[in-house]
Amino acid sequence: MPPLPPEARARLDAFLGRIEEVSHTLVGYPCSQDFNYPELAPFLRYPLNNCGDPFADSIYRENSFPFEREVIATFQKHLRAPLDQTWGYVTSGGTEGNLYGLYLARELYPEGVVYYSEHTHYSAAKIVRVLDARSIMIRGQDNGEIDYDDLRETLRLHRDVPPIIFANIGTTMHGAVDDLRKIRAMLKELAISRAYIHADAALSGMILPWVERPQPFGFDAGIDSIAVSGHKFVGSPVPCGVVLARRAHTERVARSVEYVGVMDTTILGSRSALGPLVLWSAFQRWGEDGMRRRVAACLDMADYAIARFEAAGIPSWRHENSITVVFPRPADEVIRRWQIAPHEQIAHLITMPHVTRDTIDRVIADVVASRLPVPSGP
Ligand SMILES: Cc1ncc(COP(=O)(O)O)c(C=O)c1O
Repeated sequence: MPPLPPEARARLDAFLGRIEEVSHTLVGYPCSQDFNYPELAPFLRYPLNNCGDPFADSIYRENSFPFEREVIATFQKHLRAPLDQTWGYVTSGGTEGNLYGLYLARELYPEGVVYYSEHTHYSAAKIVRVLDARSIMIRGQDNGEIDYDDLRETLRLHRDVPPIIFANIGTTMHGAVDDLRKIRAMLKELAISRAYIHADAALSGMILPWVERPQPFGFDAGIDSIAVSGHKFVGSPVPCGVVLARRAHTERVARSVEYVGVMDTTILGSRSALGPLVLWSAFQRWGEDGMRRRVAACLDMADYAIARFEAAGIPSWRHENSITVVFPRPADEVIRRWQIAPHEQIAHLITMPHVTRDTIDRVIADVVASRLPVPSGP
């Protein structure tokens, strides 16, 4: 290729400097930054592409299918998915995983109604529109969990159509986990046998496997599919994720494509081959102990933040096994400086692995300073 013109080089250098600078103020969004995968740089020279089913053959051989299959096996193990009864692939992120889960559900129950709480990530509302699926939004509790009474009552009123329940395993704003035990008990109580449960575990799907007493979150809790983001807790320079689903559902949507000699079981055609390599490298590097240690450190850091907020006279809280610390919405300048996610009267910081005590102290000092009354002029 022709060399990069000097002015283009200078622009990239300046951009790198800016990214490096803002990376020190990322406390509101759940993207890990404690990674580096130099071993993958040489692959940027090839048009790697994981088009099609990673478990089938493809005529296109510049793919990373063997690594993708290992990544899926790792997620199957930790999301408690029976190997022979589930299938999955590496997605472009949590949103695609949610789309895939609801797509399978809609194919299984075309007349089904999707139920999701008002605290659900905005992708769910968009997906039901894309799928043209019927949906009902359920009230949420103040702590971020779905309102179980509202869900029960709504299910009772629509017992003639199969429910497709979009359960949150860690809501975006509160880190709340919907109680899958309660949801399943409700379905049983109402004698609803045809139902589908999709779990949106974008962040917590890679936290709960590594804690001692996780809330029910995996296939052993009766879910049909689950979506996890790879660039959230695991950490990736390119957005990616994993979706797993019961094989009986995925087989219904598989189509063979002669053009590339693959099985078309995924939402996208061409798919990133780097995402699987990144996730594979991450697990090779951290191992299970490393992941467990990272999660424990993040939970300790969340407790540290709560203690510092308390010392500053500011109420804050988190759910069990969550690293999302909720506190009252601060001034806009603090939101901008620290890339904090606000929602109405609340905000949160997320103690991802790169968030240090020093960072938390500085954020809280800014929150406190912004609450002080501005002195009036002489
Ligand atoms: C609960 C939840 N679900 C889904 C998503 C979407 O994930 P992604 O950004 O990987 O598409 C997010 C992202 O923040 C999320 O918090």
